[in-house]
Amino acid sequence: MKKENKSDKISEPFLKENEKTVEKNLRPKYLKDYIGQEKVIEKLNILIEAARKRKEPPEHILFHGPPGLGKTTLAHIIANELGVNIKVTAGPVIERAGDLAAIITNLEENDVLFIDEIHRLNRAVEEIMYPVLEDFVLDIIIGKGPSAKTFRINLPKFTLIGATTRIGLVTAPLRDRFGAAYRVDFYDVESLKKILKRSAGILGLKVDEDAIEELAKRSRGTPRIANRLLKRVRDFAEVKADGEVNFNVVNDALKLMEIDELGLDTMDKKILKTIIEKFKGGPVGIDTIAVAVSEEPDTIEDVYEPFLIQIGFIQRTPSGRKVTDKAYNYFKIKKDEQDKLFNE
Ligand SMILES: Nc1ncnc2c1ncn2[C@@H]1O[C@H](COP(=O)(O)OP(=O)(O)O)[C@@H](O)[C@H]1O
Ligand SMILES: [Mg+2]
Repeated sequence: MKKENKSDKISEPFLKENEKTVEKNLRPKYLKDYIGQEKVIEKLNILIEAARKRKEPPEHILFHGPPGLGKTTLAHIIANELGVNIKVTAGPVIERAGDLAAIITNLEENDVLFIDEIHRLNRAVEEIMYPVLEDFVLDIIIGKGPSAKTFRINLPKFTLIGATTRIGLVTAPLRDRFGAAYRVDFYDVESLKKILKRSAGILGLKVDEDAIEELAKRSRGTPRIANRLLKRVRDFAEVKADGEVNFNVVNDALKLMEIDELGLDTMDKKILKTIIEKFKGGPVGIDTIAVAVSEEPDTIEDVYEPFLIQIGFIQRTPSGRKVTDKAYNYFKIKKDEQDKLFNE
């Protein structure tokens, strides 16, 4: 089953159940509306144009990168641009070969099949995928033992789009079957400002320039979080400030949510401070950190760590995670004094 996100944590970039409709409305539908990720977009434009010219579906595409950065959005955009249907599923939902067969035999020529969390496909299903992706044939085995028979079904040509937050967990044979793999990255402040302005427009909100800038700076480089903060700030403004969103409203609202000027929340700080205070700044293994902060190791790796690495607060080393001098400075903790403490 897909993990359902019931947490109320504001900076958690996974999609929450009650956000699905709003998220759909805010999602850009065509490449021209997509903001940022210029390098990815440029390559996608070529890929799509070439497929149109050849009148053939493009090769299979894999998107990877932290949650909330636009992978699902891009999959939908590709289908829209090609004018084809998109079928959406997720790795953990396809439990048996039969589940996969049911999905795949229902595809029409040129369709897009989107598999989210593709690193969570199980082994048996994954192996059936290989000939499907390579030659568009599905091998079905009926019966067991010596009397088992294999049937081969020819499939229409389609494009698989996979998405994953954990490229390292996608097996090499599966990865090799994608003709193109793109990494989506954190957004800069300018792109986030554009995204926020666009969203404010769609939601019919009045947000001044300073407020947009402040929201952009505190969104952890993540459009999903930017949109979420915008909605929270709107609620706050309605109750406390006659609906106008200005710098002070953003500041007050984010203070209430315990989001600091870099966009870090209480868990980010807990992780950093734990490594500093309990493990002398590291290196320390992810599982040890997870136990110390009472959070799932996967969540730390998927959600918190990528941004902390991005802003240069954490480094990954072969022996574990290390907190950098930059993070020490941010918390105004002096490293040498701390070393003394540990050595006493
Ligand atoms: N480039 C973008 N421009 C505008 N909005 C974006 C962009 N990328 C993502 N978003 C917004 O962020 C939300 C999350 O994106 P999504 O594609 O679901 O992320 P992912 O699949 O990588 O977790 C989308 O609903 C959309 O509103
Ligand atoms: Mg997604």
